Amino acid sequence: MVTIGHSTVTVDPMGLGTNKVGGHNLFSGLKDADGIAVVQEALAKHITLLDTAFMYGLGHSEELIAEALQGVPRDQVIIATKAAQTPSDPKVLDNSPAFLKQAVDDALNRLQTDYLDIFYIHFPDAKTPKAEAVNALAELRAAGKLRAIGVSNFSLAQLQEANADGLVDVVEDHYSLVHRDAEKTLFPYLRAHQISFVPYFPLASGLLTGKYGPKAAAQFPQYSAEQYTAIMAGLAIVRQIAKAHAATVAQVVLAWYMANPDVATVIPGARLPEQVDQNAGAYAVHLTPAEYQQIDAAFK
Ligand SMILES: NC(=O)c1ccc[n+]([C@@H]2O[C@H](COP(=O)([O-])OP(=O)(O)OC[C@H]3O[C@@H](n4cnc5c(N)ncnc54)[C@H](OP(=O)(O)O)[C@@H]3O)[C@@H](O)[C@H]2O)c1
Repeated sequence: MVTIGHSTVTVDPMGLGTNKVGGHNLFSGLKDADGIAVVQEALAKHITLLDTAFMYGLGHSEELIAEALQGVPRDQVIIATKAAQTPSDPKVLDNSPAFLKQAVDDALNRLQTDYLDIFYIHFPDAKTPKAEAVNALAELRAAGKLRAIGVSNFSLAQLQEANADGLVDVVEDHYSLVHRDAEKTLFPYLRAHQISFVPYFPLASGLLTGKYGPKAAAQFPQYSAEQYTAIMAGLAIVRQIAKAHAATVAQVVLAWYMANPDVATVIPGARLPEQVDQNAGAYAVHLTPAEYQQIDAAFK
């Protein structure tokens, strides 16, 4: 178990990302029944941290999670959610104290609970002083509505401003074997201030499961041809290590994050319960220090 920042929240090395649980506004072809099954499969596999957000289905992900959690004792799950997008126009961001207070109350209603384990400001807005926003969350924590304070998608400068009073417990940001900027931009500050880190896109939206081959490059326009070739080469090394462990590529990649001291918990997303089942198998993969380094070097 890892303690989140300065809070009393503790989490397992792996949780569940839920943007495909009810996130119809972000992904096509999602089914509510699959989303509920994904959450239930996670619980069956003792994966108890659920990472959701207002933005995933404009509240629908939170509602489906509440449905999936019917009958589950509240203290058996860790619920993390996020807000910042204005319900009437999600392109407009708001971090004002009044907005955050309402957003937390609305999330509590949809999740049918009386506290959130982690609440993240999902994105910084342009106008609210960051420390003022975080102090509003500290008031909500004092009122028992949330247990740990998080920010997401904040630059280092924005994080420093947000953490002026040392109140930030956790940062969620883009990080994966193929997107390692946070190692330089955020990790030194996070280590120095005992702030936990939760990476998003840990499987690079499925690319790091190894299910896309060289011919699928066109589906990932964010990578140059050269970068995509290098990722395929890195995956070939992961595939060898996976073979030695009788594991899948996704399991080895997830095991790498679980062994990474800068990662508090890894939250792979899933569209289907079978994916959760497979990803949970990462717990059985124990990388040797040499394998950890080999994977690290394969994507540098
Ligand atoms: N704070 C933020 O701004 C922010 C931004 C993005 C995400 N997040 C959070 O971080 C979580 C993780 O990110 P993510 O879900 O977008 O990306 P991810 O974890 O990198 O990739 C998850 C996707 O990979 C595929 N997948 C997962 N396991 C698989 C398996 N075993 N075999 C084959 N395919 C598999 C599934 O998509 P397909 O089946 O469709 O291929 C799944 O939806 C999200 O769910 C969300 O909770 C936060």
